[in-house]
Amino acid sequence: MNAEIAQTACPHAGRDDRKSARIAAANLAPQAGSRVVGSFALGRDVLRSPKVRQAGAHADDTNITNPDEVSFFFLDGDLHRKRRAAVAGLFTPKTIVTRHHVVMHRTMDQLVARLREGKPLPLDELSFQMAVDVTAEIVGLTDSDSNANLARRVKAVLDSSLDRRPGWLGNLIFNAKMLLRVGRFYRNDMAPAIAARRKQPRDDVISFMVSENYSRKAMIMECLSYGGAGMMTTREFIVMAAWHLFDKPDLRDRYLTGGEADQSAILEEILRLEPVASMLHRRAVEPQPGVMEDGEVLCVSIREANVDEAITGPCPFELDPDRAKRMKVVGPYMSFGDGPHRCPGAQVALHETRIFLDRMFRLPGIRLVSEPKIIWNSFIQGYELRGALVACDPA
Ligand code: HEM
Repeated sequence: MNAEIAQTACPHAGRDDRKSARIAAANLAPQAGSRVVGSFALGRDVLRSPKVRQAGAHADDTNITNPDEVSFFFLDGDLHRKRRAAVAGLFTPKTIVTRHHVVMHRTMDQLVARLREGKPLPLDELSFQMAVDVTAEIVGLTDSDSNANLARRVKAVLDSSLDRRPGWLGNLIFNAKMLLRVGRFYRNDMAPAIAARRKQPRDDVISFMVSENYSRKAMIMECLSYGGAGMMTTREFIVMAAWHLFDKPDLRDRYLTGGEADQSAILEEILRLEPVASMLHRRAVEPQPGVMEDGEVLCVSIREANVDEAITGPCPFELDPDRAKRMKVVGPYMSFGDGPHRCPGAQVALHETRIFLDRMFRLPGIRLVSEPKIIWNSFIQGYELRGALVACDPA
């Protein structure tokens, strides 16, 4: 970090390029009793510390006495390392380029063909299809009747939390709906994938789970965790990045004329300003002087850490794709987390977003017919963008 740059005042104070800041400020709700950490350096110390455990995001309600039934998202220590190592090969730069790029371009071929019919289409549905196709390949959900139906069934399960009404009746209805939707997802998408891998293992998460004799419940939990982690997040990020590029013709020109590295720098800077995940909670299981006390729950605020001037330099609220390079920091700052749970899919997400936007913005006459509405999902404590329509000239 460059302290001299950090101390220079911003010449255009008041400028704020963030689209999600206001709704986040009005709705963000750290876990009750937790201490919010806004400093980037301290947040990183917390996330990298071996003396913390997962907290928040249902970690406290998750029974980890039988680790074979728990997604690795909720595990820590050696068991967590072992499970991550088993799937690490699915996320390497080489696998992304040689295997996942094929899926990304195949999906874009289909989406481009639909757009070239000339009718306005919902951007979040297009971005969700991309996110589902890529994550499905990694997980091994490749034996469904169609990927559009797979996307619909995954969405039905993951969006159920939004329908939830308070009170016992609400819970009852929620649980019944959940069972039904999870049942449909299992029968139509997971069961055929598992059967196929029992006959012929492949290189994906389901093949690994089959070889390790995971229970049905454990497999469902793991698949849905990937769904939430890989599909919901990327759907929102693609729409957010598109919105910024539609808004800013200079930035869009730079995106379309720059190389891959420059495109990634632009996307990472957008993700710094508009993190899809807002907070990460951890519980201290041992004291760490200067960082945390024993038993304390810490809420690392990604939103605050990402605009901490000590690490961003001046004008932290401005979209400046050259910032990270100038400050010698990793581009997305804390948007993919840090430490042992840092997002394994970070590069996958950046590649699919980059390819999606590159191909969409090269379409003749591409335009934003209606802007997205920004809403807050209190269940995942993040923004969602709905109602954006895009269209291009017909072929
Ligand atoms: C823009 C898109 C994405 C964002 C913003 C994002 C963000 C994050 C963050 C902040 C974490 C850390 C959670 C924590 O520390 O508690 C995480 C973990 C995770 N992400 Fe992502 N993610 C994205 C895309 C993906 C994709 C595409 C995949 C897989 C295909 C994926 C799979 C995972 C998994 C499995 C974890 C859990 C890792 C662990 O607990 O060790 N993510 N993600």
